[in-house]
Amino acid sequence: MYDRFNRKIEYVRISLTDRCNLRCRYCMPEEGVPKLAHDDILRFDEIVRVVRQLARLGVRKVRLTGGEPLIRRDITKLVASIRAVSGIESVAVTTNGVLLQELAEGLVQAGLSACNISLDTLRPETFASITRRDAFSRVAAGIEALEAAGLRDIKFNCVPIKGVNEEELPALVAKLVKDRPYKFRFIELMPIGCACEAGFAGVPMADVALQLMRAFGALTPAPAPKGVHGPARYYRMAGFCGEVGFIDAMEHKFCAACNRVRLTAEGFLKLCLNASTGLDLRTLLRGGITDENLALALRSAIYKKPEEHFFEEAGHYAKRDSRAMYQVGG
Ligand code: GTP
Ligand code: 5AD
Ligand code: SF4
Repeated sequence: MYDRFNRKIEYVRISLTDRCNLRCRYCMPEEGVPKLAHDDILRFDEIVRVVRQLARLGVRKVRLTGGEPLIRRDITKLVASIRAVSGIESVAVTTNGVLLQELAEGLVQAGLSACNISLDTLRPETFASITRRDAFSRVAAGIEALEAAGLRDIKFNCVPIKGVNEEELPALVAKLVKDRPYKFRFIELMPIGCACEAGFAGVPMADVALQLMRAFGALTPAPAPKGVHGPARYYRMAGFCGEVGFIDAMEHKFCAACNRVRLTAEGFLKLCLNASTGLDLRTLLRGGITDENLALALRSAIYKKPEEHFFEEAGHYAKRDSRAMYQVGG
């Protein structure tokens, strides 16, 4: 379906939980997040019901996010159920990779189409300092398990942070995508949640690109990937099998081409990453709404999707959402 700005909405990002087994400093407080009651989060059958109606409205791609989505028990069953929904062409997951060692094979067998792995560093000590957990070797093993399971659509997400991983960036790209056909993406630190408080400064995407050019030569724009894709712009480098991508949400807004809505773990349909507007689907689902009326409610909410995000406009704080990244799933 199209929204009132004539944007085609084909993609839903579903946060399965706001809890996580890591505590990245720019994302989560050290003590973790208050535990939601079991009843507060959508059950898998409720999620599948929403996906079915969204697919009727034209959604083709589903991404499961968190917090850390792989900590939800029976996630492989959810992947299989969503994959079976008519109209859904792709089911992807965005994960920190800690549990992939155990789950990769089952997920791929269940029909997982793609996996994005958050990986800010390849140095175990830096990993422990960013995530406050000593889990680097598990993530490394998880990446291997994913490759062994035969998944080919793999992307790495790295948030470059001044004084933390900024020296390591070309080495990271070379290690992960020089000899492998994956995508390595840099995400500009966004002023959301702990990133605002903790005294973190992101590295501008132009500076990252310059570092890469110095190390590897020219960056050549790559053709846009097939299917329903996102805000990243991709480049090729001579001698590299994979590609490098940049997500600079702050400077290059992609709002005019936005194709997505989000569902929080509590069942709130969120219409923009950074705006609080949306629809409380949980109340509707548990109030006995029919499928027809659910589709109507979704259509009416999505039509009103906001035009753009308001990160940089000080006067727009009222419109901003107070939800943190781990509650929204990026
Ligand atoms: P594909 O292109 O499908 O691989 O995925 P994606 O980039 O949509 O997914 P991923 O979960 O890997 O998201 C990477 C990051 O992009 C997120 O953590 C966000 O920081 C950013 N991002 C995703 N969607 C939006 C959006 O609508 N607005 C903004 N500003 N940033 C977004
Ligand atoms: N700005 C940019 N990216 C962030 N992520 C978490 N918090 C932020 C933030 N404030 C990233 C994670 C992960 C992706 C889903 O979102 O590192 O790679
Ligand atoms: Fe967990 Fe991802 Fe937040 Fe790190 S950035 S604490 S892995 S949700």
